[in-house]
Amino acid sequence: MDKKVVLVTGSSIGLGSSIIELFASNNYNCIINYNTHEKEALSLKEKIEKKYNVKCLCIKADISNDIEVKNMYEIILKEFNKLDVLVNNAGISIDTPIDVKTKNDFMKIFEVNVYGTFNVSRLFGDFMYKNKNGRIINISSTNAIDTYYEYSIDYDASKASIINLTHNLANMYSPYVNVNCVCPGWINTPMNKNLSDEFKKEEENKILLKRFAEPNEIASLVYFLSTNESSYINDSIIRIDGGKKC
Ligand SMILES: NC(=O)c1ccc[n+]([C@@H]2O[C@H](COP(=O)([O-])OP(=O)(O)OC[C@H]3O[C@@H](n4cnc5c(N)ncnc54)[C@H](OP(=O)(O)O)[C@@H]3O)[C@@H](O)[C@H]2O)c1
Repeated sequence: MDKKVVLVTGSSIGLGSSIIELFASNNYNCIINYNTHEKEALSLKEKIEKKYNVKCLCIKADISNDIEVKNMYEIILKEFNKLDVLVNNAGISIDTPIDVKTKNDFMKIFEVNVYGTFNVSRLFGDFMYKNKNGRIINISSTNAIDTYYEYSIDYDASKASIINLTHNLANMYSPYVNVNCVCPGWINTPMNKNLSDEFKKEEENKILLKRFAEPNEIASLVYFLSTNESSYINDSIIRIDGGKKC
């Protein structure tokens, strides 16, 4: 039987790179999508192909750019002519005090996190629906639900929009494509590399497990949502945050 195929957006570094590696270790052919970290994406491709004996494409595409995403779609169709799982992981944050936030920063976050997720989902979701097979897993955040920070007010709003997008996409692609949303709390990834030790300690103290997640701990939930064991989970918003202190 042909191997299954997964596309993880933003899988050059951080959470996305852990997710793609977990799928590869489960015998998936993989598509690493990236925007800027080409060197990291290429070395991950090399590692994955060697270690797991699967095929891996590396495609540069800014998810908010229609032409680049269409081009990625055509490459994937030409190479595999199938897609079993789409993980909408790519995301950005521009953390700044509220009084210096610019309209450009705000719009950039929405362009990538919200339009980008929609842009990729519409193309690949239509394809999956036509083929009556597929799973879409969106990565939002606990910042979308109940953990707010003024300096990420734009990011938090964009992540809330991803929950809303999830419901619409689940409606659109029912009954053939399960669409779910994962909302992680803090994760040890490059996105958080500039947090001060003091702030990190304060945040860890608010978590019942007293630590940030490792990317592989979030990746295992994402992978589970692609398996037969999760076939009845659909249109769900699932938080994974180590437990929140009351
Ligand atoms: N870290 C956390 O604490 C945390 C918590 C909750 C949710 N999340 C969410 O988890 C996801 C992954 O975050 P992370 O912490 O792994 O972040 P990260 O370390 O900054 O990695 C972000 C990834 O997204 C890609 N990306 C950014 N803009 C892109 C674009 N326009 N087109 C294509 N790819 C793009 C980056 O690729 P290039 O660098 O190659 O451009 C990179 O691979 C995000 O959606 C984030 O909001 C993170």
